[in-house]
Amino acid sequence: MAELGTDLDKAKHFLEAGNVIGMPTETVYGLAGNALNPDAVLKIFTVKNRPSFDPLIVHTDSIDKLDAFVRDIPEKARQLAERFWPGPLTILLSKKDIIPDLVSSGLDTVAIRIPNHPLALKLLGMLDFPLAAPSANPFGYISPTTAGHVAEQLGEQIPYVLDGGSAQVGIESTIVGFTEGGPVVYRLGGMSLEKLEAVVGKVAVRSHSTSNPKAPGMLSSHYAPRKPLFLKTVPEALASHKPERIGLLAFEELSRLIPVENQQILSVTGDLNEAAKNLFAAMRSLDAHDVDVILAELLPETGLGRAINDRLRRAAFK
Ligand code: TXA
Ligand code: MG
Repeated sequence: MAELGTDLDKAKHFLEAGNVIGMPTETVYGLAGNALNPDAVLKIFTVKNRPSFDPLIVHTDSIDKLDAFVRDIPEKARQLAERFWPGPLTILLSKKDIIPDLVSSGLDTVAIRIPNHPLALKLLGMLDFPLAAPSANPFGYISPTTAGHVAEQLGEQIPYVLDGGSAQVGIESTIVGFTEGGPVVYRLGGMSLEKLEAVVGKVAVRSHSTSNPKAPGMLSSHYAPRKPLFLKTVPEALASHKPERIGLLAFEELSRLIPVENQQILSVTGDLNEAAKNLFAAMRSLDAHDVDVILAELLPETGLGRAINDRLRRAAFK
């Protein structure tokens, strides 16, 4: 069973030996391994049970280190990197051969991110290689936002989880690429569209396609709890389920129609950032609760509300 702790030397030791460990970031916890070591990268895919066609994000701690990994950095990509790193933004850049093909699933771009978490940044600074890290959940399940979530699901398969507390952003990074000319968002995430557009102007969004080869991780089966989740209202669900069998993922307010212990509120003040931070833990908690179905309310389509709604739509039962 994985040990949980804050020992950076221990984390470094495991990573240098080619092991994979749990790593905190501000978005969600990652399952981290040496991005330049194909054996370590293969271990990541195996532990996660992830198909090899779904590429990984490479994490580093400084823009100066990028030259070793990428061929060039378009001007707008550099502007975003300088403005938002460290932060919840992943940028797709043309890769150099030093990045194993397994990391990029054979694509000629590599996803790069500098995470904004003190432990992750310290760890990356102690290593002479970058870290490949997908979210530390079994493929298709909800991403982990605490070290405990990682240990619950992958603890038997990894030696260590670096415990950095609850993830402060709570949803995965926004992914942006430049191969289509202007900036294109392939996954809505923890960096809002509004903030990106304030720096580089109009940004296209392609994350809603159902078969998007640019970001296979955005397929509709993702981020799902084990119980069926519906984007329905409580009165609609009451037509087919008893009140005590219904769980509710609500934005701001409790429903009076079902038991209070079956409900999770994302933000009583209606704060979209707080809702993002609470989203995945609330989904997990309802998934573990004794109910048959989970209902979720869509949030306002603005700021992080867009990324939250995107996750809810993908989690919804088809
Ligand atoms: O916030 C995050 O991004 C977290 C933390 C740990 O950094 N990581 C994360 O990784 O969410 P993962 O593997 O769960 O999602 C990465 C997504 C996948 O959907 C993958 O398809 C996409 O990034 N991706 C990676 N490399 C890509 C590339 N070269 N081109 C297009 N999409 C890519
Ligand atoms: Mg993931």
